[in-house]
Amino acid sequence: RTVLILNGPNLNLLGTRQPEIYGSETLSDVASRCADLAAQLGLEARFEQSNHEGVLVDLIQDARDGADAIIINPAAYSHTSVAILDALNMFDGPVLEVHISNIHKRETFRHHSFVSGRADGVIAGFGTEGYLLALRRAASLLGAAE
Ligand code: DQA
Repeated sequence: RTVLILNGPNLNLLGTRQPEIYGSETLSDVASRCADLAAQLGLEARFEQSNHEGVLVDLIQDARDGADAIIINPAAYSHTSVAILDALNMFDGPVLEVHISNIHKRETFRHHSFVSGRADGVIAGFGTEGYLLALRRAASLLGAAE
């Protein structure tokens, strides 16, 4: 079983980007922790990041054939993108939404996520650990090992 872990804009700069909010771990640190846990769970994790809305839409469309579940941190597009929501609505498997920070504790414009209208579960404010928790949830939803 394959889980696509998708990251939106500015998450390529994780670690240097507002570390007081997002922590000091880099996105490649997160990718390798996810790969390790995925292996333990008997899953394959594909980790992607793009700063471009259309590229994220393409990756979600491709996942219809290439992935069994999607974990997505849509970043700022959470709050703006009907296109990403529409693409996710064409994907049949589990969709789990992750935010590193607690978006509900921050500016009002971050409180609404279009993606939450499709997500089977949402994790916010658990730091980068949220990705690992989402992977465990993906494993149970997919009925994989552990
Ligand atoms: C974020 C929260 C968003 O509001 C923000 O635009 C991000 C990251 C998070 O992981 O906490 O880029 O999705």
